[in-house]
Amino acid sequence: MLSGKRILLGVSGGIAAYKAVEVLRKLMELGAEVRVAMTRNAARFVAPLTFSALSGKPVLTDEFSEDGWGPMGHIAVTDGLDLALVAPATANIIGKLSAGIADDALSTALMAAECPVIIAPAMNERMFRNAFLQRNVGSLRAAGIRIVEPDIGALACGTSGQGRLASPDRIVQAVQAALSLKDLAGVTVLVTAGPTREPIDAARFISNPSTGKMGYALAIEARNRGADVMLISGPTHLHPPQGVNYRSVTTAAEMHRAVREHASQCQIIIMAAAVSDFRPKEPFERKLKKEEASLAVTLERTEDILQGLGDARRGQVLVGFAAETDDLIRNAGYKLKKKNLDLIVANTIGLPGRGFASDMNEAVLMERGGKITELPHMTKTELAARIMDAVVELKKNQGL
Ligand code: CTP
Repeated sequence: MLSGKRILLGVSGGIAAYKAVEVLRKLMELGAEVRVAMTRNAARFVAPLTFSALSGKPVLTDEFSEDGWGPMGHIAVTDGLDLALVAPATANIIGKLSAGIADDALSTALMAAECPVIIAPAMNERMFRNAFLQRNVGSLRAAGIRIVEPDIGALACGTSGQGRLASPDRIVQAVQAALSLKDLAGVTVLVTAGPTREPIDAARFISNPSTGKMGYALAIEARNRGADVMLISGPTHLHPPQGVNYRSVTTAAEMHRAVREHASQCQIIIMAAAVSDFRPKEPFERKLKKEEASLAVTLERTEDILQGLGDARRGQVLVGFAAETDDLIRNAGYKLKKKNLDLIVANTIGLPGRGFASDMNEAVLMERGGKITELPHMTKTELAARIMDAVVELKKNQGL
């Protein structure tokens, strides 16, 4: 049920705009209070009157009109929102959202919305495959916006492919899932993400290909489930997710210090960062000149942050990752025991379409008690949800 939930339904200008009427009806049947904001083009497909009559509220279509929502309509319509949903979401609104552009009623309202956002894209399949569109969808996903993937089937333009707006039922289910699962409310979660960089000299460093996507997806999932999240991140191109406490670090030593500062206040700790195991023993302060024919750099071990947490654990759920090229289960199982973890997320690296830098991954969850769950190939967002399900279960079993 969605009673008492305030939802903004954003409708953008595609042929599927008529299906938003059904989405509105279903949300209202479940008890939600729905406010509607439409783009001008959406209003060419379906009259705002249809939405206002069904929602019992004025529809925001013009950011300069004082009717309905008053002189600051784009702010008023987002006050106290629990969730914003854009269905259908055109390539245009997706592009604006990912670029931070606010130039009409819907995009300004979305800019002002401080709540979880769901978008349900709908467009021609060639448009949906477009590299820029996919990049924009990827950056929205990385920022914690949920995507209800379009269905595959007949399209309005006469062709067939992926691009049909997801069914109203699927969209409403996504809304319910986003609003109902608060099984980490009040729980403190520490997540580390991304690579570390270990300087060789003033211009060079040792690092690895981690992009932080898995750790950020975990931080977002924990936030969505009501947790108070601390994300400690090595250098990445990702934006700090909204509603998450954030600390940026560069080296393994900095990450170690930051984790030590926060760990004791956290009930769940997930080390998703790809921490460098070695650092140059004596980094050069200046930039090295290439006069030498060869250069020997002596490396020393960095602290194993997770090992330290495992050795000193007290009433916490501790999760590590294992990136392996060979013997996945044996190597990850060894790390699970050695580092005294509750759960290790084991994944094979070096295969296309998974692991470092990919939006997808394929992992095996191995628990302290011996339970092994082999998960199929899925998005890192979905994997984050599966990992968090396992963490919640472990937390319950430990009576925490
Ligand atoms: N880790 C850590 N500190 C390090 C190295 C790794 O906390 N200095 C954590 C990672 O965040 C990850 C887990 O340990 O959760 C395993 O990392 P991985 O690189 O797979 O294993 P290592 O323990 O470094 O072992 P090896 O490199 O020998 O495979």
